[in-house]
Amino acid sequence: MPAYAVIGGQWGDEGKGKIIDYLAGNVDSVVRYAGGNNAGHTVVNDKGTFQLHLVPSGICWPDVYGIIGNGVVVDPDVLVSELAEIGSRGIDTSRLFISERAHVIMPYHVVLDRLEEEARGEAAIGTTGRGIGPAYMDKTGRMGIRVGDLLDWDALVPMVTQFLAHKNALITKIYGGEPLLLDDVLAKCSLWADQIGRYAKATEQLVQDLLAQNKNVLLEGAQGTLLDIDHGSYPYVTSSSPSIGGACTGLGLNPQAIKGVLGVFKAYSTRVGSGPMPSEIPEHEADEIREKAQEFGVTTGRARRIGWFDGVAAKYSQLVNGFTGLVLTRLDILDDFDSVKVCIGYNVDGKRIDRFPANTGLLARCTPIYEELPGWDEPTASATELSQLPANALAYVKRIEELVGCKVQIISTGPRREETIQVEPVFT
Ligand code: IMP
Repeated sequence: MPAYAVIGGQWGDEGKGKIIDYLAGNVDSVVRYAGGNNAGHTVVNDKGTFQLHLVPSGICWPDVYGIIGNGVVVDPDVLVSELAEIGSRGIDTSRLFISERAHVIMPYHVVLDRLEEEARGEAAIGTTGRGIGPAYMDKTGRMGIRVGDLLDWDALVPMVTQFLAHKNALITKIYGGEPLLLDDVLAKCSLWADQIGRYAKATEQLVQDLLAQNKNVLLEGAQGTLLDIDHGSYPYVTSSSPSIGGACTGLGLNPQAIKGVLGVFKAYSTRVGSGPMPSEIPEHEADEIREKAQEFGVTTGRARRIGWFDGVAAKYSQLVNGFTGLVLTRLDILDDFDSVKVCIGYNVDGKRIDRFPANTGLLARCTPIYEELPGWDEPTASATELSQLPANALAYVKRIEELVGCKVQIISTGPRREETIQVEPVFT
């Protein structure tokens, strides 16, 4: 059986967790390939509400493997407490595996994330402060510690000793912070080896074996395409590759194995942290959506910025990922509006453009060109059949399909697993 990917089409928080949990009933494994505990995936099902940061969102289904691939950065403290929390609620966590090649978020990464953000001042990115950027910097700088390294004490001690000396020099000499003690960092590593060592595995082989056994593999994206280190609104991005290319490098998976690429989009837009967002709604008007939708970050609790659906950004996301189907989430949040807007182009420097600019300064100067569509007077909330949607809501979905150039396969009408309209089959 092939692999299917579920990718954030916007700035993250599109509701991927719910969709993965919904689809995971038909798969054998759910595999995370990028990001770390900057992600916050909310899953609501018959076992309760779960807020997952690292553990793949299929974990609530019995018999589904959860795999954390090499492209993920792992904070073992977060993983251990997340496993304890979901385990205490009756979920079997023994089917979890972590790539021995996945990089570890070390204590100094978290310290440096905060110091670097403070030093950026006005230009702060608004990171989640979880050490994600510094961990990926060390990965590409070839001074990372990987999960497999935690299990080889003799090799680990000189590595940590050398890297910590470098990090402490940065912390103290550049940022004027407090150095970390080598003994403390090594003690953490030893604890982590005991706590997570049993999950370490050659996951690229495991995924390959599952595919060879005709099993269905779901690739779980974290964050979104517009936060991608290469394709997002750089530098206001995360440090990994949430888009489809990241699924191949973040798992050791060949592209031919991927049959379907689902792009998850909210029916409007949100963004957390800094950076341009052309279709952003002014703060006082955004409150209505924010409060109704409870648009506050799962990881940091920060209020999310709100915007109308951005068709230009969505089309770009389609270009980067080649979506084979779309998932439209939170349609119900737009239920009470007299009219709804979609952004169909940008005005910049006196000209109209229809593409998402690479240059952040240019993107920041873009103002939206809106098309206004009539709202719908009957609710879509909790609908489970397309025939239950009012005509104007259907017209809105159709317009989004036209703008992105791809069919909607699933519509989500509420946070619960069953509040879902399956428009077309995903697994073919
Ligand atoms: P970092 O990933 O913590 O380095 O943060 C970089 C940027 O990505 C910041 O603007 C964060 O708010 C944003 N970000 C990171 N993870 C998520 C997520 O899961 N959802 C939404 N935004 C995120």
